Amino acid sequence: MKHIVIRGGHRLEGVLPVQGAKNSVLPILAATILHPGTTVLRGCPRLSDVEASIRILRHLGCDAQWQGEELVVDASSVSRWDVPDHLMREMRSSVIFLGAILARLGKAEMSYPGGCELGPRPIDLHLSALRKLGAAVEEKGGRLCCEAAALEGREIALSLPSVGATENAMLAACGARGETVIVNAAREPEIVDLQNFLRSMGCTVRGAGSSTICVAGGQLTKDCIHTVMPDRIVAATYLSAAAAAGGEVELTHVDYRHLSTVTAALHEAGCRVIGGEGRILLRSDGALKAISAVRTAPYPGFPTDAQAILMAALLKSRGTTVFVENMFDNRYRHVDELCRMGADISVADRVAVVTGVPRLSGATVRCTDLRGGAALMVAGVSAEGETCIEDIHHICRGYADPVGDLVALGADIRWEER
Ligand code: UD1
Repeated sequence: MKHIVIRGGHRLEGVLPVQGAKNSVLPILAATILHPGTTVLRGCPRLSDVEASIRILRHLGCDAQWQGEELVVDASSVSRWDVPDHLMREMRSSVIFLGAILARLGKAEMSYPGGCELGPRPIDLHLSALRKLGAAVEEKGGRLCCEAAALEGREIALSLPSVGATENAMLAACGARGETVIVNAAREPEIVDLQNFLRSMGCTVRGAGSSTICVAGGQLTKDCIHTVMPDRIVAATYLSAAAAAGGEVELTHVDYRHLSTVTAALHEAGCRVIGGEGRILLRSDGALKAISAVRTAPYPGFPTDAQAILMAALLKSRGTTVFVENMFDNRYRHVDELCRMGADISVADRVAVVTGVPRLSGATVRCTDLRGGAALMVAGVSAEGETCIEDIHHICRGYADPVGDLVALGADIRWEER
């Protein structure tokens, strides 16, 4: 079994380019099937979730091949509309294929994605958006069956700005007749990247980044080359690691505007953070102070995906910081693992209270989920002694080369077979 082993206590120094964004590339991969031609994705991170999406694309009849760092998808001959259960289980966000398959073939079938490590993950908003466009959606023996003789552009008002439901609605709307208007849409930067990708395939779509998105349905005819946006959560991870361990790092291939709530928190904690075009510089003496309450919220609020990561950076801070998790029910599972390293954290329902401790000690800890695993890496670089992180398949879902990246910044970290 492969683990990550970190010997903490080294300052982090250096320049590091940030990988392409997982949460951007997954809906984009689903969107490739909307165009019966070729798409080239540049800066596509090699992640287990990306490999799972590639397996789905191939099952549907696409040709998908890595050519160096580029992923080339030829969706000329999509012939199947079902996603088998074993492929659905590999990745919860495969539900994003529903809208795309429906738009391309007029029907789609897959198993219900169900809950995951963050607690229940309902898809009612995804399904009601598809129904609004005229799809018949039925659940038969745990399988979701969607069918539409013709999708019709309509107004879809989301009761909350779900990222996945916004993306599914955008993809299905591409196959509808007329214009679809999505109201109370999610405003995440990854939605803007999806819009840019759809535009480069020939779609008329506007409004992404705001709460109202308009998509004109119609055949997408253009072969295209798209560069995936930088991963803001991976950037937040390495900034938090440098904040906690001390040092000076410069991240490149990053958009500092996407990270303003995270960098504001690190600044309040005592780091010097300078954002420039395509880069962020962070300087820290490793002696952080507690900050005002961190409340997760939809973008442009503080990202739920960075909650565990920032928490890990503040474990040795002077004072007490309160975290309020507003997005998911079960997103403090990393807390027990951090406490094994000597952290002082108490959790009650959606609130976690972190009281800084003078030191953390390396321990054997287990990833409970993707960002919880990233938090263990952040804690590991600032702990005394050796931290062994187990169940790292969670980390590999979202980080292309976590060990290589942290080695490049001077951390003492390695893969180890035990
Ligand atoms: C996406 C991200 C995930 C991030 C999350 C919130 C991807 C692949 N994943 O997940 O990393 O943590 O956004 O920023 O992009 N909800 C419903 N009904 C629905 C859909 C969602 O009640 O039909 C609720 C969810 O339970 C949750 C909230 O809406 O409480 C936000 O979820 P959503 O924005 O949909 O997250 P995902 O798209 O699943």
